[in-house]
Amino acid sequence: MGERPTQGFRPFRHGLPLLSLDNTYTPEDLRAFDERVRRILRRGEVDYVVELKIDGLAVALHFEDGRFVAGATRGDGETGDDITANLATIADLPGRLKGDPPRRLELRGEVYLDHDGFRRANSERAAAGEPPFANPRNAAAGSLKLLDPALVARRPLRLFLYSLGSAEPRPWSLHSEFLGALKSMGAPHDGHWSLCRGIDAVLERCAEWEGRRRELPFDIDGLVVKVDPLEDQAVLGATSKSPRWAIAYKFRAGRAETTLLDIVPSVGRTGVITPVAVLEPVLLGGSTIGRASLYNADQLAALDARPGDRVLVEKGGEVIPKVAAVLTEKRAPGSRPWTFPERCPECGGETGRAAGMVAVRCLNPLCPAQVAGRLEHWARREAMDIEGLGPAVVEQLLERRLVRDVADLYRLTPLDVAGLERHGEKSAANLVEGIEASRGRGLSRLLFALGIPGIGERSAAALALRFGSLEAVAAAGGDELAKVPDFGPVAAEAVRSWFRRPQAKALMRRLLKAGINTRLLPEERPQGSSLEGKTFVFTGELEGFSRAEAEAAVRKLGGKASGSVSAKTDYVVAGADPGSKLKKAASLGVRVLDAEGFRRLLAG
Ligand code: IVH
Repeated sequence: MGERPTQGFRPFRHGLPLLSLDNTYTPEDLRAFDERVRRILRRGEVDYVVELKIDGLAVALHFEDGRFVAGATRGDGETGDDITANLATIADLPGRLKGDPPRRLELRGEVYLDHDGFRRANSERAAAGEPPFANPRNAAAGSLKLLDPALVARRPLRLFLYSLGSAEPRPWSLHSEFLGALKSMGAPHDGHWSLCRGIDAVLERCAEWEGRRRELPFDIDGLVVKVDPLEDQAVLGATSKSPRWAIAYKFRAGRAETTLLDIVPSVGRTGVITPVAVLEPVLLGGSTIGRASLYNADQLAALDARPGDRVLVEKGGEVIPKVAAVLTEKRAPGSRPWTFPERCPECGGETGRAAGMVAVRCLNPLCPAQVAGRLEHWARREAMDIEGLGPAVVEQLLERRLVRDVADLYRLTPLDVAGLERHGEKSAANLVEGIEASRGRGLSRLLFALGIPGIGERSAAALALRFGSLEAVAAAGGDELAKVPDFGPVAAEAVRSWFRRPQAKALMRRLLKAGINTRLLPEERPQGSSLEGKTFVFTGELEGFSRAEAEAAVRKLGGKASGSVSAKTDYVVAGADPGSKLKKAASLGVRVLDAEGFRRLLAG
């Protein structure tokens, strides 16, 4: 975890490692933290300081006899980049501390950009023809790592200090006392902290800030709760990753208001036509959002979203943000409802709804948008994992009629590919090599890559294990399919009817001819049983794992991954920006792990 050293900066070894913080998301988690603290300290009630958690880049600053002498990024926690010259350009950072500071002092804090500074930095980038920063954090990180301090000086970077690294001598015995001293030393700090006696007062403060965070001129992604007496902090100590005396309380991603510029129908690989909202870019949960899903015709009609409307967008636990509400009271006069296209916007073909289904589909299997979608899906990392075969390359392959379907990919030669835009001999050879290598990816990936409606990675893996070969899946009857773990009649029917189509039979023949492996590989079988019978649900972005990798790791050890939390769930693994599954886990008392806990569990 953490960042690698950056070229152009000298490495800076931290005397004491810069730790990270464990995250909590619910009041229950915070109470559990308090219980642990009180158990270790054998105390009935503990004093906590609650601070804002400003989203930026952690730095360590060294002062000798009050003078700023060196500063570094966190890096991997042990060694960071020496960015002394860049830090010295930040106006908030005093060259000399006031009063009578300790002889040697290491202070820790965060470099960040406030809203105004973020806008300024991005308009400068736009003027220079450079792409905008997605969020203030990236902008701060990008600015601090510029090699020319004169350029850094032009970025409106801010700094606030939040913790004591070390002090010789150390005149403070409470963290709150140290925060007060920052003020008298003229050091930058955030004045919004408060001292809370006991966890109930902490929870009240958290609830208050969750509602007030928008009042601040900078982004916070939560609060930090710290044990106040420094001696107690020392008793509590730290794990290799984070202190036991502090914890982050992260806010849910929330909503943002913006303008709906347009609604465009987008045709996916299964022909489903999804209305997509084109938005005036808005910052939400740390990233800039320019598009959001409007799901389907029914939802769109229920929302009555119209181009020009002010809307609220929301990031659930899922990756794609959605339009959560339309602010009809702000609607301009003369706006017109958006009507769903009668014909496919890509091929002009007929559209229709299957009985009882909300999705409108393009009914033409040769619709170019569907063909392109299928090829892109085939190449995805979770499917056949063909590097370099993204949307732009797919588009060119189709335009030049080099391929019509996925089986044609296996006939491409480096010469064919070398003619594509931005493809030299080397990258052409790489792409063809990647396609070759994809022949042996295994049955689970192959079944997922086929793009059978409703069959995701989990179902594909279950099918693969049960039947052992593509041919056996294709020949299976509805009853046999319904016996696959977690398959209901709908999934069974989806598989059966997909393989029954003449196009599917033709495709299978062509794939076999192309030399695609259609059998279960030995490594696809479970290789251990430490998680036998355990059910996992994942939510949020897990550091170090894609969702597919995390689920595959669970399956390898005999466990099961599921999409929804119930009383039968053994573990919910929560990453950054978790969704409602985490709440559900808390209400059902299901164990919650973070990425590190999950890694430990896998390691046994
Ligand atoms: S204390 C040993 N206090 O959040 C404890 N960190 O997600 C060190 N952060 O690495 C952290 N505001 O970069 C602390 N008031 C605050 C903070 C804060 C932002 C950052 C910090 C840390 C990260 C953990």
